Amino acid sequence: MASTTIIFSCFIFFLLCTSHAANHTQANFLNCFLEATGGSSSSPSKIYTPNTTSFSTLFRSSVQNLRFLSSGAETPSFIILPSVDHDSQAAVLCGRRHGIRLRVRSGGHDYEGLSYVSFSSTDGPFAVVDLSGLRSIEVNAADHTAWVGAGATLGEVYYNVAAASPTAGFPAGICPTVGVGGHISGGGIGSLQRKYGLAADNVVDVRLVNAEGELLTRETMGEDLFWAIRGGGAANFGIVVAYKLRLVPVPPKLTVFSVSRTLGQGATRLLHSWQSIAPRLADDLWIRALVIAIGEAPVNRTIQATFQGLFLGPRRATLAAIKKSFPELRVRAEDCNEVSWVESTLYFDGRALNNTRALLNRRPAFNSSFKAKSDFVREPISEKAWEGIWKVMMEGEEEPLEMIFEPWGGRLWEIEDDAIAFPHRKGNLYNIQYFMRWFETEAAVTARHLRWMRRLYDYMTPHVSSNPRAAYLNYKDIDLGISTEEGRTSYKEASAWGRRYFLHNFEKLAKVKARVDPENYFWNEQGIPPYTA
Ligand SMILES: Cc1cc2nc3c(=O)[nH]c(=O)nc-3n(C[C@H](O)[C@H](O)[C@H](O)COP(=O)(O)OP(=O)(O)OC[C@H]3O[C@@H](n4cnc5c(N)ncnc54)[C@H](O)[C@@H]3O)c2cc1C
Ligand SMILES: *[C@@H]1O[C@H](CO)[C@@H](O)[C@H](O)[C@H]1NC(C)=O
Ligand SMILES: *[C@@H]1O[C@H](CO)[C@@H](O)[C@H](O)[C@H]1NC(C)=O
Ligand SMILES: *[C@@H]1O[C@H](CO)[C@@H](O)[C@H](O)[C@H]1NC(C)=O
Ligand SMILES: *[C@@H]1O[C@H](CO)[C@@H](O)[C@H](O)[C@H]1NC(C)=O
Ligand SMILES: *[C@@H]1O[C@H](CO)[C@@H](O)[C@H](O)[C@H]1NC(C)=O
Repeated sequence: MASTTIIFSCFIFFLLCTSHAANHTQANFLNCFLEATGGSSSSPSKIYTPNTTSFSTLFRSSVQNLRFLSSGAETPSFIILPSVDHDSQAAVLCGRRHGIRLRVRSGGHDYEGLSYVSFSSTDGPFAVVDLSGLRSIEVNAADHTAWVGAGATLGEVYYNVAAASPTAGFPAGICPTVGVGGHISGGGIGSLQRKYGLAADNVVDVRLVNAEGELLTRETMGEDLFWAIRGGGAANFGIVVAYKLRLVPVPPKLTVFSVSRTLGQGATRLLHSWQSIAPRLADDLWIRALVIAIGEAPVNRTIQATFQGLFLGPRRATLAAIKKSFPELRVRAEDCNEVSWVESTLYFDGRALNNTRALLNRRPAFNSSFKAKSDFVREPISEKAWEGIWKVMMEGEEEPLEMIFEPWGGRLWEIEDDAIAFPHRKGNLYNIQYFMRWFETEAAVTARHLRWMRRLYDYMTPHVSSNPRAAYLNYKDIDLGISTEEGRTSYKEASAWGRRYFLHNFEKLAKVKARVDPENYFWNEQGIPPYTA
């Protein structure tokens, strides 16, 4: 009887204490941050809690994948909106002192929402550090460099680089609302990659807040950490507040083109040839392919392959280059547009070429949900195998699944596979992205789409890279595995995704992690844990 009472009172005491402690943690974190940044709780301009009126607007402002607003995942207890580098340092120092983890968000395009929600089963409160206020872009045209705040979007970078110099560009992704913070630290593939490599190949310096709250540059962080954040995912190592980019030369006049072919027009044979030709073209010619199923089943159902290209020169030279190396594509003069580099970025985003200011629009282009997966292909897929793949794609009635094929070769084959953390180089012909977008919000619709996408991915197994089946970090895919035990992922567990995203660079990444964040403060569900042999 007595012992029951004791246990019972202990239980009550435990409840009181823990709820008190949880409140304390959050209040202490808030006060710590306000003190460190000179703010006051009556006018919080840099830290927001769910009882601040603008919290939910701010939370949703850059969410690209709406399914994570209703997935049951944990949402943040705080959003921090830094306006100077020091604010990120305060977030780390106060977070570590009071047991609040951070998620870092720049453009909010994370495919699995991991920059703003948590699937942790241990339920600790966390804060989102949203860098959208840190987006100054200082172009030094004479020096061919630019310092860019991590919260800038690719569109803002393209616009400002072009405004500073008509013959400077930067090699990065297609979608202008993508944030440089996540994009560059994961690699960054785009239309200039065959000539100049990935976005991450063109970073020359960085300012990063580490797990000790220190603000480091390339010189003070050590080359191993600078290596790791270029392709290894900066979220594992700290908060990037700015990158210094190397700008690349572009001619004043480039040519963009697009041609589409259905099955009846020889799409299969053309794509089959593309696999071997596109990676071996001269590096000033980039041709990617996008494949979708179109038309009503059964009679009009077909596959459409669209070949989109960029040539670093005028139309006449473009036509000559294609005639020489890929004549069966039959590109005509009227399929081509002569544009400036910045106009080419609008073209591939499907926008009017005369409105470069559209690049400054940070709002998501769609209110939708999506799912993607990725593969690398090392041997051409046979025509017969393509026919089987089309059959599977055409079975999906209303499922607008798209396959996007990005050619490798050129500079991507020249750079060593351990030069930076991004490992997918020589030996790869192209990357595949499976991408599907939908507008319905019902859980059942989402589940059906996810099932369909996984089915196609399984079907592709014999045709793509294996041991491991490689994947691209920026097309994050939690189907590869996740850990939900906050802060406690083991190296072995993380190998499930780590070896696929980083191949042989995974071990070195985990060793860098052990040096710079041995307690794994910068944890996430698909993170890199410290290596402990
Ligand atoms: C519509 C669309 C088009 C895309 N097109 C391309 C493309 O052409 N080429 C390509 O390579 N990729 C493309 N992507 C993928 C894109 O590169 C990744 O989703 C990228 O990680 C997004 O970066 P973000 O800053 O917008 O995302 P966020 O969601 O803000 O962040 C993504 C990840 O990076 C971390 N992170 C963000 N900022 C920082 C920081 N400052 N410091 C440390 N960690 C940080 C986050 O914690 C998270 O883990 C596209 C994505 C979408 C949705
Ligand atoms: C303290 O925590 C309890 C339980 O989690 C919650 O109901 C209450 O609103 C919190 N109080 C404050 C001031 O945050
Ligand atoms: C809600 O706002 C008040 C001040 O307006 C603040 O003191 C309190 O800590 C906030 N609650 C939470 C849970 O952050
Ligand atoms: C196929 O397309 C043609 C031309 O667009 C159209 O007239 C016809 O009705 C379609 N057939 C079916 C079965 O959808
Ligand atoms: C771009 O061109 C379209 C059609 O030619 C026109 O309606 C629009 O006003 C133009 N926009 C700008 C910014 O010039
Ligand atoms: C998405 O929804 C928001 C809020 O409802 C709205 O302001 C915005 O215009 C919508 N965007 C698009 C592209 O439909």
